[in-house]
Amino acid sequence: MKRIHVCEDFSFSHVIHGQMRSLEWGINVTEYQALLEQLLAREITTLDNADIYGGFEAEAFLGAVFKQAPNLRDQFEIVTKCGIQFPNKYYPKTYINHYNYDYDYIIQQVDRSLINLNIEMIDVLLLHRPSPIMDAQVIAKACQDLQRAGKVRHFGVSNFEQEQFLLIEQALNQPLVTNQIELSVLNHEHIDNNNLDFLQRNNVAPMIWSPVAGGRIFNPKTEQEQRTAHCVQSIAHQYGVSMDVLLYAWLYKFPHLLMPIVGSGSLPRIEAAIQAQNIDLTTQQWFEIYQAKLGHSIK
Ligand SMILES: NC(=O)c1ccc[n+]([C@@H]2O[C@H](COP(=O)([O-])OP(=O)(O)OC[C@H]3O[C@@H](n4cnc5c(N)ncnc54)[C@H](OP(=O)(O)O)[C@@H]3O)[C@@H](O)[C@H]2O)c1
Repeated sequence: MKRIHVCEDFSFSHVIHGQMRSLEWGINVTEYQALLEQLLAREITTLDNADIYGGFEAEAFLGAVFKQAPNLRDQFEIVTKCGIQFPNKYYPKTYINHYNYDYDYIIQQVDRSLINLNIEMIDVLLLHRPSPIMDAQVIAKACQDLQRAGKVRHFGVSNFEQEQFLLIEQALNQPLVTNQIELSVLNHEHIDNNNLDFLQRNNVAPMIWSPVAGGRIFNPKTEQEQRTAHCVQSIAHQYGVSMDVLLYAWLYKFPHLLMPIVGSGSLPRIEAAIQAQNIDLTTQQWFEIYQAKLGHSIK
């Protein structure tokens, strides 16, 4: 497994494991521990979480594994996020979906994540989504204080566009280590808004969420999904691999290394992301899939 140096002294595994759906996997703490051990055996060492996942309960599920098997913590890079709020039982005063980047809120959420995850330090904290009213100076002060207190090692963002990325990076006065964005055969948002070009130019390795389109491609409903799934399937057939392997191979065709966050708890599905590293799609095959989603030929 390749290591991706997201900054000078810190690296991620090329394939990352995402835990947004961990409470849906139907496993207990011991089975979760076994899954983490299987990830390590495959050199997948970076875990992606967020305060809100599992209705604000997914971090504590992972924390229960670290409590049961404390030796595991130091073998992983732990990524988590803050900034999104929605009505839920843990925050009775929240009555509407919103983003919160107030100083006290950021500090409070990091403290909560540390307790839930049962760890001393978060390796990378991401700002989950940009807010139209975020104050970069306030965010920078909170981040610097968290770093000084030894609670967070590095910072990054998620779903940010170019100007928003630069706004935070310049206020923070240190490189953001990643931007976590959605990209798949069914989602071209960050191709279309030039964010991938921006990240390539600035040598920032993006983490990619919903790399297999959150599973939608396996059960295509719209005409666009059906067209794209059919195209992926026929090229997968040419390589003698499953559809999910092809979906990761399509991502690996981008020139700078994208780090897919695999959202499945099933080992064979996780392994598809590894197997795809051996497949080099031709440029024309990449465009076949790209155009299948567009529904027309490029000019
Ligand atoms: N920053 C953000 O805003 C943001 C947003 C969303 C997600 N994320 C992160 O990205 C990670 C991945 O997101 P994701 O879970 O949407 O990614 P994904 O890997 O594209 O989708 C996972 C879903 O696809 C299903 N799936 C995978 N392979 C399949 C197959 N061969 N056949 C049928 N179904 C299949 C999985 O089902 P099974 O579980 O049954 O295998 C699961 O429901 C999350 O865990 C989270 O860490 C970040």
